[in-house]
This record gives sequence, C-alpha cells and structure tokens, in this order.
Amino acid sequence: MITVYCLFSPNESGLSPEPSHVPVLVDQVIDFLGCRLGSVVVDGTVGMGGHAEKILEQIGPSGRLIGVDRDSESLTLSRKRLEIYSNCKLYADNFKNLPLILNNLGQTPVDGILLDLGVSSYQLLHSNRGFSFQIEAPLDMRMDREQKLTAATLVNHLSEAELSEIFFKYGEEPRSRKIAKAIVRERAHTPITKTTQLSALVEKIVPRGRQSRIHPATQVFQALRIATNDELTGLEATILSLVDYLKPGGRLVVISFQSLEDRIIKRAFRRLSGRCVCSMPPELCRCEKKSQVMILTRKPLRPSMDEVRANPRARSAILRACEKKSTVPAD
Ligand SMILES: C[S@@+](CC[C@H](N)C(=O)[O-])C[C@H]1O[C@@H](n2cnc3c(N)ncnc32)[C@H](O)[C@@H]1O
Repeated sequence: MITVYCLFSPNESGLSPEPSHVPVLVDQVIDFLGCRLGSVVVDGTVGMGGHAEKILEQIGPSGRLIGVDRDSESLTLSRKRLEIYSNCKLYADNFKNLPLILNNLGQTPVDGILLDLGVSSYQLLHSNRGFSFQIEAPLDMRMDREQKLTAATLVNHLSEAELSEIFFKYGEEPRSRKIAKAIVRERAHTPITKTTQLSALVEKIVPRGRQSRIHPATQVFQALRIATNDELTGLEATILSLVDYLKPGGRLVVISFQSLEDRIIKRAFRRLSGRCVCSMPPELCRCEKKSQVMILTRKPLRPSMDEVRANPRARSAILRACEKKSTVPAD
C-alpha cells in the first residue's frame, strides 16, 4: 500500500491537470453522505478530488477525509488540488482494500463512505491512457499503471471464445461473436495495439446505425475496460463489507455509470436491507435477511437535465445511498 499525503509537493510528475473532471451529483452526494463539521469520511474513488474537495469544505478542519484511488497519476493531481487540507490522507490502492486501510489507520468506524465508480474524464481524455475509442493511443486501459495486464494483451492473446464472452458479458454486445472473429482474423497478420485500430475494425463489423447516437465500439471498449481492470469481481462483497466500517447512522453512497454495475449495487443494498435476493419460492429461500441498513434512495437518483446539459458525462450516472441502522440484529 502506497501512502500519498496531501501536503506532499505536488508538481514533480509534470502531469498537466487538464483535461479536468467535473464531479457528478455533487450536492446530492453531500446531502446523502450527511457530512457535518467533524465528520470522518472515506472517498474510495477520489479521482481528481472533485467530490473530496466538497466533502472537505463541509467537514471543516476538525473532520477527516481518507481518499483512495488505484490510479496514482490521478492521485498526483488530486493531491495538488487538495494540498491546502492537512486533514486529508490519500492512498494509491484498490478500494477493495479499504477494510485493511481503515484497520491499519485505526480509523473505524467512519461517518460516510463514497464510491464514484468508473473512469474520470482525466483518464478518458488523457492522450496516452487508451480508454477512449476517439483518441489514438496505445490500447492500454489500465487504471493502475503498475498492473501488467493491458487491454492490448487481452485483445491479442485471448481465444475467440474468451473475447466473445467478455464482449457479451461486460459490454452486453449482441454482435460479440462476429467482433471476436474479426479481431482474431485481423491479429493473425497485424497485432492490434492502438485504440483507433480496434474501433475502426469494430466499425467495419457493426456499421454506425443512422439513428444511433452511440459509437459502434462503445460496448466493446466498456467490456475491455471492465475486464482489464477486473472491475466487477468482488464488488458486491466489498459493498457488503464496507457497512461494517460505518458508525450506526453512517451513510454509504455509490454512483455507477452502467447497468451491470448498478445491478450489483442494487442487489448488495437489497441484501443489506434484509430482503431476499434469490429467485426461489419463499419456502426454499436461504437469504440471510439481516436488516443492517435503511435504503435512502427507493428509486436511484439521476442527474437533472440542467446537470446533463452542463456536464454530458453525468447523463448515465445512477446514485444509490443507504444508512446503517442503529441496532443491527445479532447473527
Ligand atoms: C468517476 S472517477 C471519480 C471522480 C471523483 N469522484 C472526482 O470527483 O474527481 C472514478 C475513479 O475511480 C477510480 N477507481 C475505479 N475503480 C477503483 C477501485 N477498485 N479502487 C480504487 N479506485 C478505483 C478510477 O481510477 C477513477 O479515478
């Protein structure tokens, strides 16, 4: 675990803070987290520090913010943005390790935890990260640049069946088989190493629909990003475990940007609220049904039209929040 303190000297990486990232649903995040003076809050996806900065303004100098992100380049930028706050500590790590981080810090339980999932505009638009099909770059897509596996490794080494499964499972791409077949044919003579090379290939197989506003490679790129960063494995278990680190009355807020992720969050919240998550008839249901939280968003929250106009990236954001109950039934 690498520790990065906000008061650390900010500029030595030479990274440009552009392109900037506009945090989504900021007022709603602050409301649902219930931030007050002195609150201890965890931002598990601190990114460019947009939400973190607002949280720090609310909790004041007596509060504390613990921020985590697996992308140390983003952390360098958020460290600069948050350098005036001495009550903020940032860690380059996966939020799946938050239980370990909080235990090591002796900072448990906390008042609020935020997870704003997915990628930031910085990652998406930065010219060498390879997340976007619109920007020519190496086919990289790693959030954690120390990780060995890149999207290019998957594209050039997985079997046709494995690629097709990834596109179908993580991209819900109906033409997954056709795309996987074309990739395998192409890479037999030219390795696929660039984002634009892959997007042009997909566009050849899946022509741009006249009505469709989304690029034909959108789902393939989403699927590869999820697979490269192993984004969904253990997400439900992490959400379930984080509630143990909240004070009674503490809040967990999760923002997701695509339906696969949101389904996992919805299921985890349902489970935490003590409801059945299986499709068995009641007499066969073995769900634990221990009611640990109250769900605060009966319907998930979406950004307003005004917010989407000002920040189009917000259009697919889905916010869910829950509050830990004061008395949790014993096992
Ligand atoms: C949408 S951005 C967060 C933006 C941030 N809320 C802000 O206001 O600047 C998502 C961030 O989550 C990070 N991330 C995604 N999955 C992660 C994980 N499992 N552990 C830690 N960070 C993760 C990404 O690297 C990215 O910086």
